[in-house]
Amino acid sequence: MGAIKLPEKSVDFFKDNQNQIFESGNLAEGPWNDKLSEKIKSICNVKEAICVNSNGSGLVALLLIYKEYYGRTSIMIQSNTMYGVKTITKTAGYNLVDLIDCQIETLMPSYEDLKKTVDNYKGELNKLVIMLSDIGGIINPDIVKIARYCKEKNIILLEDAAHSFGSTLNNKFSGTFGNAGVYSYYSTKAIFAGEGGIVVTNDKKIGNLMKDFIAYDRFKQKMEIGCNIRLPELQALMVYSVVKEYKEIIKDKLQTAKKYEEACKKFNIEYINQNGKFGNGNFYKFVIISKNKNITEFLPTIKTTTSKVYDYALGNSKAIPNKHLCLPIWFKLEESISDKVVKEIKGST
Ligand SMILES: Cc1ncc(COP(=O)(O)O)c(C=O)c1O
Repeated sequence: MGAIKLPEKSVDFFKDNQNQIFESGNLAEGPWNDKLSEKIKSICNVKEAICVNSNGSGLVALLLIYKEYYGRTSIMIQSNTMYGVKTITKTAGYNLVDLIDCQIETLMPSYEDLKKTVDNYKGELNKLVIMLSDIGGIINPDIVKIARYCKEKNIILLEDAAHSFGSTLNNKFSGTFGNAGVYSYYSTKAIFAGEGGIVVTNDKKIGNLMKDFIAYDRFKQKMEIGCNIRLPELQALMVYSVVKEYKEIIKDKLQTAKKYEEACKKFNIEYINQNGKFGNGNFYKFVIISKNKNITEFLPTIKTTTSKVYDYALGNSKAIPNKHLCLPIWFKLEESISDKVVKEIKGST
């Protein structure tokens, strides 16, 4: 299929500024980490933004902080998420106590799914973390209700916002609904820069612990945990170069989405709307769904697809892999590809 491209303005910005990094000799812990952090704070309207080298390292660090300073030792994650989200929990030394079911309409757990799992849980809630992943580009539509519930129950809520940088729900950015969230800028993501992650939180204490964690707390020497999971300066510039164009990237993808939406509507094919009742997504994926039938049997002519989110289930949500498909969508997607997809949609009925 076609190549995934970066905006020209991003590439030019990177090229224009890279020499300054070499000339300054400041290859780590320098001004581009600070600039990127400020940029994210202003875009996402969040108090703290700490640059790290991946979403996964940021989540592990947050979990370790909540274990060390808040006595959290147990965790729940959702059934439909990337396999690595499960490995993150054990890597941070947590006890994975349950997997929350997910709905085909959103590929994520509803408030009711989450509440049911918590109601069935016999352990202590003040030792529990729930880590939810936004899937496909939209924010979990029930996140406000879920965050309120977690607060009432004294459960820590972390948002794995690996897929959802730039997405909003009622004008609020992903990653800012729970106690903390983490974005990913890994190569395949909606807004991508190769590698990188950013931890966001409105909790100053967590922000400060995180800043010290990524420097092994080698200056203050108060913490017993910490590791270098920092973002190199060149990579901070790279992420900055892409992030500053995030609106342009989403706007471009919206055109492809509209083309698919029109075809889907015409042929009564259900899709996850990223520009309506589920807020404004970043179109990481364009997901079509078939609630009742196996989707490849229902739509046999649709062959031009990208990887599913996901083709496996970690828990009970075993039906989801067979009931959705992802259509190609990325910045400057070749028209020949989207035309081919539309033809395949037409051919399916
Ligand atoms: C849902 C989800 N969470 C977390 C991650 C991890 O992101 P990173 O590769 O930046 O650690 C990914 C990446 O594939 C993901 O899809």
